[in-house]
Amino acid sequence: MPPGFGHTPAESRQGGRGSGHTRLFLCPYHSWTFELDGRLKACPEMHQASGFQRSEWGLREFRSFVWHGFVFVNFDGAAPATPAEQWHDLDSHLAKWSNQDLVVVDTREWNCPFNWKVIVENFMESYHHAGAHSRTLQPLMPARGTWTEEERAHFIRCHLPYGDKERSMIAEIESLGGARDVFPLIPELSERDRLEWGLTLGTPNWLIAYLPDCLIWYRIQPEGPHRHTLLTTLLVPRSTTELPDFSERLGRGAAASVGFHLEDMEMCIGVQRSYYASGYQRGRLSHLEMPIWLFHRYLAARARNTWPTVDRPAASSQRPDA
Ligand SMILES: [Fe+2]
Repeated sequence: MPPGFGHTPAESRQGGRGSGHTRLFLCPYHSWTFELDGRLKACPEMHQASGFQRSEWGLREFRSFVWHGFVFVNFDGAAPATPAEQWHDLDSHLAKWSNQDLVVVDTREWNCPFNWKVIVENFMESYHHAGAHSRTLQPLMPARGTWTEEERAHFIRCHLPYGDKERSMIAEIESLGGARDVFPLIPELSERDRLEWGLTLGTPNWLIAYLPDCLIWYRIQPEGPHRHTLLTTLLVPRSTTELPDFSERLGRGAAASVGFHLEDMEMCIGVQRSYYASGYQRGRLSHLEMPIWLFHRYLAARARNTWPTVDRPAASSQRPDA
């Protein structure tokens, strides 16, 4: 229920984010109440409706799955595989973060006047570091060094290695015993994980960025062809939140991620504007935009009804030796 409707849990009243705990769901329209498992508990004045059985009028059920703490809901019930099955190859990588008892420490809601696929493309390709993020992400992870793994039926995975300048700065800071990131590093990351950001798209729209000290999760809620609501979410290990200077660190971390997201928003709004233009024409992709090409192959396979069967040879990795 949206915040402010019907029974509002105390936590929600304080935080205003519409989350918290409740013992019942109350429909504010005619005051029907439902148990947490969806059973109809009470419904005023329904005893005169002939043949009415309360047990037959519970809330609608949907298929749902919990995987690495994320809750997935399958509205049409026709998903061919569970998240655990289709993203099996991401399991061990994601586990390095999800094993840390992650908590959501920052959520921002964005009204996006552009198609949801525009943000998917924007999130997954890093060619635009050189333009949109020339002063924020480009110095850290130069566009030229970013690369994409081989084509898979259910996800796309990219690597954004730190540039030489950043690497030597990190080496210097660490040799002096200093802290290199906003938050403490996630324990037991590989050398490669510690020196890059990773990106995955679980098709069609599950977006995760893996940072050496946190996880960024983008939740996309399409509302039609021209707009969607986006929730940008920052997760850190619970132990990080217990640091005495955590709120100061969070302020810095959130400001940085909002900063580069604003740069992306400007670009995505411009992309949608261009789609409406009478002079619209398709452009050529750079090799650094391989994720966009893979995403379009996925969409085409869905449209042709051949997905998830790979009806042509899978594209190979841009770094077969990595
Ligand atoms: Fe971006």
